[in-house]
Amino acid sequence: MVSNDGFFTGQKPAAVLKHAVFTAYAHVFFSMLGSRHHGPMWLVDTNAGPGKYEADATGEQVNGSPIVALELAQTQREFATPREVHCAFVEAKKAYVEELKANVAPFVAQGLRAEVLHGNVADQLAEVWDMVGDNPVLTFIDPFGVAAVSKDQMTGTLLDPTRKASSEVLVNINIEAISRHGGYLQWGEHHEPELKPSVTTEAGVELSDAFFGGSWWRRKFLEGRDRTNDANQAAMEVVDAYREIIHAETGASSLVVPIRRTPTGPMLFHFTLFYRHPAAAYKFADAAAKGTAKWREVFRQKDLEELLAREEAQPSLFGAEDILEYNERDAKAREAELKNDAVVHIEANLTRMAARVASGQGIPIGGNIETILGSFMSLAGQSALLSAWDNLAAAGVVHTRDKSDSKNTWKQHVVKQ
Ligand SMILES: C[S@@+](CC[C@H](N)C(=O)[O-])C[C@H]1O[C@@H](n2cnc3c(N)ncnc32)[C@H](O)[C@@H]1O
Repeated sequence: MVSNDGFFTGQKPAAVLKHAVFTAYAHVFFSMLGSRHHGPMWLVDTNAGPGKYEADATGEQVNGSPIVALELAQTQREFATPREVHCAFVEAKKAYVEELKANVAPFVAQGLRAEVLHGNVADQLAEVWDMVGDNPVLTFIDPFGVAAVSKDQMTGTLLDPTRKASSEVLVNINIEAISRHGGYLQWGEHHEPELKPSVTTEAGVELSDAFFGGSWWRRKFLEGRDRTNDANQAAMEVVDAYREIIHAETGASSLVVPIRRTPTGPMLFHFTLFYRHPAAAYKFADAAAKGTAKWREVFRQKDLEELLAREEAQPSLFGAEDILEYNERDAKAREAELKNDAVVHIEANLTRMAARVASGQGIPIGGNIETILGSFMSLAGQSALLSAWDNLAAAGVVHTRDKSDSKNTWKQHVVKQ
């Protein structure tokens, strides 16, 4: 489970995106909670890694999630009403733990609390939870494959329904790993799922058993794949069933945000947020949109650096200034096009939803964000939603929104005219 060393040395664009979405949401989580909670709040990173890794062939270092988390804790401490965010990092690999300790040391020297625990998260969780105590906590689970946190730990610890303080969990669910585990299965003689004879050990399948809380998912996967002929689709159905179980046992709702570059582009990974607060899904969807926008900008800057370096080495007719200007104009146009497409899509979704309710009736924003954003989930957020709403109001389809409180848009209803 602790292989994949190359992850920390190759070019890692997806990691940049992952961190952008993670921090955008963590920032909202702690900012909102910190306005009413006095005392520490915790950020638990169950698969911390070494804290820093090489970005690309240039050898430029990129921060891993622990450093990103500590920078966030630093920012929160600088608020007019300072928020105290404590961090706990769990990492199974000894060498990474040593690197991580060195990487967090400067933050600790500045007075931030950062606990580094060595070991399997499944074994370390109780100790982490003793530290967290009755304080609010956001847990980030970011494994290479299927998470080592068992379903019982998820329901009994991380999302314990008897806990008073807020507790949310953000899991990077690896659909590809689940479908790989599913690929080791076949139907047996009595239509029971069994391991293919070619699979000599369970090849990690038991990790999926622990994560999903039993072997029920095996049948679900095989049935889904038989029906759809698509292993990824079958894995998604397993995840949906898991989310329902978690909801039934803990009351926590969840939102899956597929992270990709364009609406039709390949899925890079799925972030699943388990939450209880009614604002969470809306805020998370908006955070994902902000994270993916930041990511596009990071890539644009990288492309630009390359273009300028080429220009310097071999000057063209254009010159650096023209290249800069063209690049910026092009990026703005592409962003505008993406937003425009998102607005059109959201307008269509809202219009369809409005058609199902009576005049004067409202569609609650917070509880419907998945349907409202549709296939632009993770690419569009509040800004596109507000534009679509304004357009529909101008067209007489819905009432004008309350523009005085954009922080609480999630509480509003889109009311049919
Ligand atoms: C995808 S990397 C995490 C990267 C890190 N979250 C970041 O964004 O910089 C997964 C990490 O989990 C660690 N790991 C794997 N299995 C683990 C387990 N059972 N408990 C704790 N850590 C584990 C691996 O050694 C690896 O460092």
